[in-house]
Amino acid sequence: MRIYNIVSLLLPSASWAFLNAVENNSSLTIFNERLVASVSKSKGYVNKLTLDGQNLLGTEDGSTGVGPYLDCYCIPSGFWTPGRGSNVTYNLYQGTDSTGTKYGGISMGETYAPTGQRLEQYWFLREGETGLHTFSRVAYYNKTTPFLRNLQELRTMFRPNHDPPLFTHFVTNEKFAAPRPDTEGEIVVQDATWYLPNKDDPYVTGVGDYFTKYTFQDTWRDHKAHGMWADGSGSTNGTTYGAWLVHNTVETYFGGPLHSDLVVDGIVYNYISSNHHGDQTPNITDGFDRTFGPQYYHFNTGGSLDELRQDAEQYGHKPEWNAKFYDSIAKHVPNLVTSSARGTFKAKIDLPKGAKNAIAVLAQNKVDYQDNVYDTKAYQYWGNIDNNGEVTIPRVKADKYRLTIHADGVFGDYTEDDIVITPSKNTSIHSKWTAESSGTELWRIGVPDKSSGEYRHGYAPSPTHPLLTEEYRMYWAHYDFVDEFPEGVMFRVGKDDAATALNYVHWSVFGGYANYERPTPVYDNINNWTILFDTTAHQLIGKKTATFTVQLAGAKTAAGNTDIYNASEPYSNLPYTVNINGADLAPWVIPYHHSSSCAVRSAVICYNIAHKFSFDAGMLKAGGNTIVLSLPYNATDYESAVLPQSVYVQYDALRLEVE
Ligand SMILES: *[C@@H]1O[C@H](CO)[C@@H](O)[C@H](O)[C@H]1NC(C)=O
Ligand SMILES: *[C@@H]1O[C@H](CO)[C@@H](O)[C@H](O)[C@H]1NC(C)=O
Ligand SMILES: *[C@@H]1O[C@H](CO)[C@@H](O)[C@H](O)[C@H]1NC(C)=O
Ligand SMILES: *[C@@H]1O[C@H](CO)[C@@H](O)[C@H](O)[C@H]1NC(C)=O
Ligand SMILES: *[C@@H]1O[C@H](CO)[C@@H](O)[C@H](O)[C@H]1NC(C)=O
Ligand SMILES: *[C@@H]1O[C@H](CO)[C@@H](O)[C@H](O)[C@H]1NC(C)=O
Ligand SMILES: *[C@@H]1O[C@H](CO)[C@@H](O)[C@H](O)[C@H]1NC(C)=O
Ligand SMILES: *[C@@H]1O[C@H](CO)[C@@H](O)[C@H](O)[C@H]1NC(C)=O
Ligand SMILES: *[C@@H]1O[C@H](CO)[C@@H](O)[C@H](O)[C@H]1NC(C)=O
Ligand SMILES: *[C@@H]1O[C@H](CO)[C@@H](O)[C@H](O)[C@H]1NC(C)=O
Repeated sequence: MRIYNIVSLLLPSASWAFLNAVENNSSLTIFNERLVASVSKSKGYVNKLTLDGQNLLGTEDGSTGVGPYLDCYCIPSGFWTPGRGSNVTYNLYQGTDSTGTKYGGISMGETYAPTGQRLEQYWFLREGETGLHTFSRVAYYNKTTPFLRNLQELRTMFRPNHDPPLFTHFVTNEKFAAPRPDTEGEIVVQDATWYLPNKDDPYVTGVGDYFTKYTFQDTWRDHKAHGMWADGSGSTNGTTYGAWLVHNTVETYFGGPLHSDLVVDGIVYNYISSNHHGDQTPNITDGFDRTFGPQYYHFNTGGSLDELRQDAEQYGHKPEWNAKFYDSIAKHVPNLVTSSARGTFKAKIDLPKGAKNAIAVLAQNKVDYQDNVYDTKAYQYWGNIDNNGEVTIPRVKADKYRLTIHADGVFGDYTEDDIVITPSKNTSIHSKWTAESSGTELWRIGVPDKSSGEYRHGYAPSPTHPLLTEEYRMYWAHYDFVDEFPEGVMFRVGKDDAATALNYVHWSVFGGYANYERPTPVYDNINNWTILFDTTAHQLIGKKTATFTVQLAGAKTAAGNTDIYNASEPYSNLPYTVNINGADLAPWVIPYHHSSSCAVRSAVICYNIAHKFSFDAGMLKAGGNTIVLSLPYNATDYESAVLPQSVYVQYDALRLEVE
C-alpha cells in the first residue's frame, strides 16, 4: 500500500477529479475535492471528517467528535463498539464504478472473541458527492452455541463534539425541527428525559419545557432523511452546514413502514435494529449473516435548514439512486444484492370505497410485516398506492413475499402470500381488496390509520409553542389527564369531537413514578372510558350479532417494550374489558409479546393490534346505550428504569356493527 501525504495533495485544491484512498500507520482515509473522512486504526471509527475544510466533528474526546461508527447491543453483556481490540481487520478500496466514476472505501471488521460474533462496517465515497455510503454487517457462525441472543440494538452514529458547538439545530423531517436545547441545570424526570430550567432558551420557548431523544423520533413510512443543521455561528467562516442520514433504501431494516425509532438528539443515528417502541428484533443464531444498508450520510453547506434538508431528502426512498455504483462495489461488501438478482413489483388494486393514503408492503412471507424478523434473509419494501390503485416497487430482491395493503379510513388490512419476485422481471398482479365487514356500521370513532394522532394531544400543533408542530412529541406527563378529564372520559357518539373529548392515551392510573408534574398517583376516573350512543328500533330490527372492533395503535402491558414474559407481574398479559349496557364481555387479553413503549416515548404509532368483540345484538337497545372500555383499576408494573408504571392503550379506531 502506498503512503501519501494527504496535506500536500489537498493544498493545490483543483477542479480535477482526484478521489483517493490512502493509509498510514494510524488511519485510513478516503477523500475527494470536498470531503475527507479518516478511520482510526486503533478505534475503528471515523475520527476526521471535513467538508470544504470545515471540521464537522469537532475535537475527538472519548465517544464524541467521532463517527459515523458502528455499535450494537448484541454481545452477552450488552453494548459493544467493534474496532478497539487487538485483531481488527481494515481494508482500503479504490476503483471506478460502471458509470466511470471513481470511488474509495474503507472497511473495519472485528470478531468478538468470547462468542465468535463478527461486526463489520463499510464506508464509501464517490467522486462528485459529499457523503458516505455505509453498510454494516453482523455475522455469527457457531455450531456449538447456535443461539447467541437477540440483536437488541444495531446502529451507526455521527457524533460530533458540541463543545464548541458547530451544529445548532436538530431536524426530524419536514414537519419538525428545533434548536439544540440548552441542557444547563437539567433535571431528570424520566429515563433519558429532562426538564429544562432555562426559560429563555429557544428550544424551551419553541418546543416546551422538556427534552427527550424521543421528541425527535419518526415513523419510517415516509421518512426520507434527518440530521443536524449548523446556522454558521460556529463555523470557521460563518457558512451553514448540514449532516444527514438518508433512508435511500429501507429494505434491510425491520418492522415495515410502521416501525419508528430515534433519529437525532445531538447524535445523528442510523437505527438499524431496536425495540425502542416495542417491535421485535431478530435472534442471532448460527448462520446469521446480514449486511444492512446501503444508507447514506450526506454532508452539505451553504443553505437554509430547509434547503439543506431538502437537498438530503432528494435521495430518500430512492433505491434506484446509485444502483450501478452499488453493483460495482458488491465485490467488496458481503451479501450485497446486485441488480441482476432483483425484479420489479407492479400491482393494480381495487381499493375499498373511502380508502385514502393506501400503501402496499412486501415483506417476509406469511407473517405480519410488523414481525418480519424471523427470516433474517428476508427484505422489506413499500410504496404508496396512487389514486388509480396502482403501485410500482422497483429493485425488489428475488424472493417470495407477503403483500399487505392498508389505507386510512378502512378497518383491517388486505394480505396475500406467496408473491414471487423473479430476477430482472416484472411481477404484475391485480387484486381486489374487499373491506372487512360484520354487517351494518352503526358508528365509528376515530380514523383507522394505525395511529392515535387524531385524539387530544396527538397530531394537533401546540397552541403555545410554535415549533411543537405535533403535541405527542412532548413528554406525556405535561398533558395532565386528571386536570383535563376530572370526571373521566365520557364520549357521546355523534356529538363530541374525538380530537378533544378523547385522550391520545387510555391510562389505568395517572401520576406517580416518572410523572414530574403529578408525583402522587390518582386512581379514580381514569381506567374506565364511557361511550354513549343512541340507536333506533329500526336499526336493530332482525339483527342477531353485534361486533365491536377495537384497533389499537399501541398497548403497553407489564412487558413494556420487551417481549419478555414475567410470571410475577399480574399484567404481563393485559385484560381489556368491554361492558355493554352493564354486562361485561369476555376480556381481550393483550399478550405480553404485543406490548409497546409508545406514548411515554413520544409516539402515536407503535405495534398495531386489533380485536373484535362479538355479542348478541339483543344486548343493544333502542334509545340510549352505554359502552364502557376498561383497563384494570390501578394496573401497574415494576419498572427497572424511571418510566411510568401504569399500563395503557392508544386507540387507532373503534366501530360498532350489527348483522
Ligand atoms: C495519518 O493520516 C491521518 C489522516 O490524514 C493524519 O491525521 C495523521 O497525522 C497521519 N499520521 C501519520 C503518522 O502520518
Ligand atoms: C509505520 O510503522 C512502522 C513500524 O512501526 C515504521 O517502520 C514506519 O516508518 C511507519 N510509517 C510511517 C509512515 O509512519
Ligand atoms: C466559506 O467556506 C466555504 C467553503 O470553503 C466557501 O464555499 C464559502 O464561500 C466561504 N464563505 C465565506 C463567507 O467566506
Ligand atoms: C484475527 O481475526 C481473524 C478474523 O476473524 C481470524 O481469522 C484470526 O484467527 C484472528 N487472529 C487471532 C490471532 O486471533
Ligand atoms: C461459540 O460460542 C461459545 C459460547 O459463547 C464460545 O465459547 C465459543 O468460542 C464460540 N465458538 C466459536 C467458533 O466462536
Ligand atoms: C428468539 O428466541 C427466543 C428463545 O428461543 C424465542 O422465544 C423467540 O421467539 C425468538 N424470536 C425470534 C424473533 O426469532
Ligand atoms: C417492466 O415494465 C416496464 C413498464 O413499466 C417496461 O418498461 C419493462 O420493459 C418491463 N420489464 C420487463 C423485464 O418486462
Ligand atoms: C419481574 O417482575 C418482578 C417484580 O414483579 C421484578 O422484581 C423482576 O425483576 C422482574 N424480572 C425481570 C426479569 O424483569
Ligand atoms: C369501572 O371501574 C371500576 C373500578 O375499577 C370497576 O369496579 C367497574 O367494574 C368498571 N366497569 C364499569 C362498567 O363500570
Ligand atoms: C395501587 O397499587 C399499588 C401497587 O401495586 C399499591 O401500592 C397501592 O396501594 C394501590 N392503590 C390503590 C388505591 O389501590
